[in-house]
Amino acid sequence: MILENKLGITNQVELQKEEERISKLAAKRMYDSGLIDKIEVGTFAGLCQIHKALFDEIYNFARKMRDVNLAKGNFRFAPLMYLEQSLKYIDNMPQSTFDEIIAKYVEMNIAHPFREGNGRSTRIWLDLTLKKELKKVIDWNKVNKADYLSAMERSPVKDVEINQLLKHALTDKINERGIFMKGIDVSYFYEGYDNFRTEEL
Ligand SMILES: Nc1ncnc2c1ncn2[C@@H]1O[C@H](COP(=O)(O)OP(=O)(O)OP(=O)(O)O)[C@@H](O)[C@H]1O
Ligand SMILES: [Mg+2]
Repeated sequence: MILENKLGITNQVELQKEEERISKLAAKRMYDSGLIDKIEVGTFAGLCQIHKALFDEIYNFARKMRDVNLAKGNFRFAPLMYLEQSLKYIDNMPQSTFDEIIAKYVEMNIAHPFREGNGRSTRIWLDLTLKKELKKVIDWNKVNKADYLSAMERSPVKDVEINQLLKHALTDKINERGIFMKGIDVSYFYEGYDNFRTEEL
């Protein structure tokens, strides 16, 4: 079933392509306009700002908490019944060390608060926390897709794999535009979107 969208698209392949193009352009605009520096760091409210910036032109549910249960593979993300409570808990999780930030990221992934676009918006959210708290970001080019996805699949049980994987990809080039733009492309690649390069849009 295809997601209802503001573009009036009814073909899945076409929607996938337009979603990629429009939301990558939006990501680029978020960076170049400086909006990215105004996002609240480490909270669900901040994640909503990111989600809205990326997907508002495409979906009515941009920035809104999902109203359905979601699963991937064998894993069920937070049941709707507990989602709000879980997001409040996550807001208050500490974020002063790398380990704390990863633990918080893992919890936000378990929450999966939106109908679609969780992976992509939450990786930007993670980077903003690392940037503010540790003066570092992840160079996503250094994180292999299969390794990343298998570490994330494992993360609700143990976060040591994702912790190690991301620790080895940290960089202190926090103000390099190219690192951000390529990071968007890699993040989209993890989710199967690779028709456009953000820099070239
Ligand atoms: N089996 C799993 N268990 C836990 N987390 C997972 C699992 N598979 C993937 N993830 C995490 O969830 C993210 C996105 O998964 P999913 O495709 O379900 O969300 P989405 O809302 O469609 O996000 P996007 O549209 O950005 O892809 C992945 O990038 C990964 O971080
Ligand atoms: Mg998706």
